[in-house]
Formats: sequence, C-alpha cells, structure tokens
Amino acid sequence: MTVKILAISGSLRSGSYTTALARASAELAPESAEVALYEGLASIPAFDQDLEPGRTPEAVARLRRQIEDADAILLLTPEYNASIPGALKNAVDWASRPHGTSALMGKPAAIVSSSPSPFGGAWANQHLRRILSITGTPVVETELAVGKVDAKVGDDGELRDAATRERLASLLAELEELAAEVGRAHAEEQLV
Ligand code: FNR
Repeated sequence: MTVKILAISGSLRSGSYTTALARASAELAPESAEVALYEGLASIPAFDQDLEPGRTPEAVARLRRQIEDADAILLLTPEYNASIPGALKNAVDWASRPHGTSALMGKPAAIVSSSPSPFGGAWANQHLRRILSITGTPVVETELAVGKVDAKVGDDGELRDAATRERLASLLAELEELAAEVGRAHAEEQLV
C-alpha cells in the first residue's frame, strides 16, 4: 500500500527555501510513499469563528479534505519573528476545527523548519510541535531544523546538500513508519 503524504509549506514566497525542501521531499520519500504538495495556502482566509459550523470557505474545505485523504502530513515552516508564519498558523487553526474530530486529529505528522540562520528556525519548529500537541496530531520524534538553508538549496531550487537530503529522507521514513503504526491501530480498533 502506498502511504500518501501531504507536504504543506508555510512560505508563500516564490523563491522559498521552505518550498524547495517540500519539493525535495517528493524525491526523497521511501518507495512505498508518495508526496503531494499542498498549493492552496495563499487562498485560505483569516480564521473567523462566526463561519462555523456550516459556512466553511471552499479553500478551507479543500485543505481539510486534502489532509483527510492523506495518510500523513509533512509540515515545513520558515521562522518569522521566532515563530511560525501567520499564514501557516491560520491554516492549522482552520484545520484544527471542529475540535475533537478535525482533520488534524490523529493525523501522523513530521515537521521541517529551515532558515538562512545557523539555527534552522528551531523556535518555529518547537512552536509548531507545541501547536500540534494541542490539535491532537502525533508528531515523529525527530526534529529537523535546516540551518544555512540558503547555502544548501541551489539557484534552481534543488536541495543540493547531501547530508540534508539524507536527514530529510530519514525523517520521511520515520513519518511513513508512524503512519503505518497509526493505520494498524485503527484497523485493530475496527476489529474490536
Ligand atoms: C524572517 N526571518 C527570520 N529568520 C530566522 O531564522 N528567525 C526569525 O525569527 C526570522 N524572522 C523573520 C521575520 C520575517 C517577517 C521575515 C520575512 C523573515 C528570515 C527568514 O528565515 C528568511 O526570509 C527565509 O528565507 C524565509 O523562508 P522562505 O520564504 O525562504 O521559505
């Protein structure tokens, strides 16, 4: 069975390093997994609790469907002012609703942060992990923070750094394993 992974980049910038890592993840996933890139972040409106339930914006419904249809999600984030970008937090807020039965509830996830700084957006990485702990989203143990990312991605957007390619491939394998575990647990629940 192919494990479907949805990669969500938190950057809207056309030359984004974060999105370059998302594209690289499609090449680096295990053979038994496939990575699709989420493309709709720019069209998600600001979260408005008055719109729930029943008046879900179409772009939000699409995001939720894409997360639901995936076996796992890979969240890739830049660091803005020591946290994650507002656009990504906004998308996570929408996807976290309805509380308790949301698309994010129980969905296996992995996090990649990156930055031109040597720290690789470690604060953003930790903030996102904290947020996902509240949304009921299990996250793989490994924390991948890619520092000096501007030296690791070429002008053509290719991830060139061999060590980072290896770390990303290993994270994806860990995510696939977590997705398989969660899948087995669901199957067992259905047998009971
Ligand atoms: C940044 N940047 C940044 N970098 C960092 O390591 N820590 C930080 O707190 C911030 N803060 C920050 C705030 C804002 C508003 C911007 C626009 C940028 C720099 C950031 O890491 C850099 O621009 C990355 O290249 C952005 O990621 P993408 O768009 O290349 O994926």
